Amino acid sequence: MRVIGRDIRKIMVTGGAGFIGSNFIRHVHGRHPGVELLNFDKLTYAGNLENLEGIAGRYAFVQGDIRDMTAVAAALDGVDAIVNFAAETHVDRSIHDPGDFILTDVYGVFVLLEAMKARGSVKLLVHVSTDEVYGSIAAGRFHEESPLNPSSPYSASKAGGDRLAYSYCKTYGLPVVIARPANNYGPCQYPEKLIPFFVTRALQDLPLPLYGDGCNCRDWLHVEDTVRGILSLLEQGEPGQAYNLGAGQERSNLEVTRAILSLLGKPESLVRRVADRKGHDFRYALDFDKARSLGWEPQIDFDTGLRRTVEWYVRHERWWRRLIDRNEYLRPLQKNYE
Ligand code: NAD
Ligand code: TYD
Repeated sequence: MRVIGRDIRKIMVTGGAGFIGSNFIRHVHGRHPGVELLNFDKLTYAGNLENLEGIAGRYAFVQGDIRDMTAVAAALDGVDAIVNFAAETHVDRSIHDPGDFILTDVYGVFVLLEAMKARGSVKLLVHVSTDEVYGSIAAGRFHEESPLNPSSPYSASKAGGDRLAYSYCKTYGLPVVIARPANNYGPCQYPEKLIPFFVTRALQDLPLPLYGDGCNCRDWLHVEDTVRGILSLLEQGEPGQAYNLGAGQERSNLEVTRAILSLLGKPESLVRRVADRKGHDFRYALDFDKARSLGWEPQIDFDTGLRRTVEWYVRHERWWRRLIDRNEYLRPLQKNYE
């Protein structure tokens, strides 16, 4: 029986049907046979139970909203630890329609914290925040004590959830650890974020809308590295502390786009320069020595990770075609693409 440090035997994973949450569940399910997993997910447009096909035993799914106190309180029965992935996550959507971001990413975190406080027996909450809470940095790297200066409704609501989680630790002594991962990529990412969006568009020979001059930079962290980082925090993170999870794999959006086209053997003529995103953060970069001090290290370099990710989307066309067909997910964002 491989339980997780701190004698964690049952984990409630909120947002476990989404991209990072489903990769986390798969990883823990495969490697920690002593751990029971409860996936608590509302199944918004981004939640997809197909991401968890084949997972059986020591796993249960509850469809629920983290904003619903009664449902969250009931689900906490027997839970040793919570990993909160549940969130509205797409910056462009937050610019178009921010309301749900405030409700889930701030108020939903409040409900989780209140339910955890009332229950009294949960050993740890790992709250998944984001590097975007720091805002943009022209040079150098953000460390955990850098001021938060979020610039989109998404990152501002994540900053609210992040600091609320901290306040419950400081004020009520709730054991809370905060993870701030960089931009993730890998299998099962909803095809609205840059990499899966451009891969699936290129596979259909559709134009790739590159915002502005394409020079904005992101640090790309493979989802498997994130999952291992979050496990390190579950085992060893110090309550009240935030931990950056970076990759040291910075690329401009144009570099990422060209790499995708080259892997797919598609022409650069697919690239369309379109108007810049409003309030577009230029660059994210993290100092992640604090997470390294727990023994965590990102292992997947961007070229390898991107190749594997592109291969995954090529092999899983049915997965992404169903999302595209089922959903009018692009409609609110259409003006960005045409
Ligand atoms: P995602 O959009 O793929 O999945 C989010 C999941 O949360 C979905 O399954 C959705 O159904 C669920 N959900 C949304 N609202 C809910 C609610 N009110 N109650 C219950 N479930 C709800 O997101 P992701 O990319 O997997 O991101 C997971 C977490 O990691 C988020 O908190 C995000 O802010 C953070 N994060 C993501 C990245 C990234 O690059 N993807 C980087 C840093 C941090
Ligand atoms: P995204 O994947 O939305 O992540 P985030 O904004 O949270 O970092 O976008 C990554 C980068 O790619 C960002 O600089 C915006 C840019 N981008 C485009 O140029 N075109 C697009 O269609 C999308 C979705 C993103």
